[in-house]
Amino acid sequence: MWPNRLKKLGVLGINKRNAMYLLPLNERKYYPLVDDKLRTKKLAVKNGLNVPHLYTVIRYHHQMNEVFNVADQYGQFVIKPSMGSGGEGILVLEKQTQGKFARADGQILSQEDISYYISGILAGLYSLGGQEDKALVEYKVQSLDIFDAISYQGVPDVRIIVYKGVPVMAMLRLPTKESNGKANLHHGAIGAGIDLHEGITLHGVHHDRFITHHPDTGNCIEGIQIPYWKDILKISSRSYEMTRLGFVGVDVVIDRMKGPMILELNARPGLSIQLANRSGLSKRLESIDSVDE
Ligand SMILES: Nc1ncnc2c1ncn2[C@@H]1O[C@H](COP(=O)(O)OP(=O)(O)O)[C@@H](O)[C@H]1O
Ligand SMILES: [Mg+2]
Repeated sequence: MWPNRLKKLGVLGINKRNAMYLLPLNERKYYPLVDDKLRTKKLAVKNGLNVPHLYTVIRYHHQMNEVFNVADQYGQFVIKPSMGSGGEGILVLEKQTQGKFARADGQILSQEDISYYISGILAGLYSLGGQEDKALVEYKVQSLDIFDAISYQGVPDVRIIVYKGVPVMAMLRLPTKESNGKANLHHGAIGAGIDLHEGITLHGVHHDRFITHHPDTGNCIEGIQIPYWKDILKISSRSYEMTRLGFVGVDVVIDRMKGPMILELNARPGLSIQLANRSGLSKRLESIDSVDE
């Protein structure tokens, strides 16, 4: 009964996503542009788009001290594997006194802990296919006040599915206590569907359960107007000319000083965005195709 019901709702499954959309529309030669966040960042900047400022890149162990120089200079920063995905290996940090650092959940790390962590990144612990990787050290995005009531110690991001350059579905992802400063759903963040035209949040989903309120703050996540909505749509649609990928998931964050920024692009975007929107992707994709013909 379930498969039929989902089909009726036009829910796109993983096999169809791969066969009908990824294979024909995302040429493999373009994947490296988005599978490596350093390349995506450079590409976005070249195209005049805002990204979180890159403080430094650590490629070798002997460069490890640079992260502590960044910490001295800026106080807050984020370390992430350039070829990571799904929020794996991302550390959102704030410098404390005496060489200590606090994570979003309050866990305290020493310099040794951080060096050890970066060694893991370089060795490929979090990278696609376990390849050797680089650690990016970047600006920690400062969340908007409007999101304080509906996120727990982290920056929400907007995920937008862009098909042939047209935004077709979006959700706001909200960090929770469980997701530790990150907005990735399988770490326990919430996904709230978005009315694509208005940029207003609809209902939410948390671990495959429908919800209306944030589990940690208790506040309602529905009916929130996302600032800069038209700009966010424009930025996300630029991903097509930038990468030539026809089916892409764009992650946008909003900084309180600098406005919307591209965080990353995904060539194999997940499909739970449909659950957050209680709506299937198939019809929306088909309607774009029908205009195309
Ligand atoms: N520079 C940053 N400042 C604050 N939070 C960040 C930053 N970079 C990432 N995050 C948090 O981590 C999440 C995952 O980051 P992202 O760059 O999309 O990597 P991934 O490919 O692992 O999803 C984001 O949704 C955001 O919540
Ligand atoms: Mg992401």
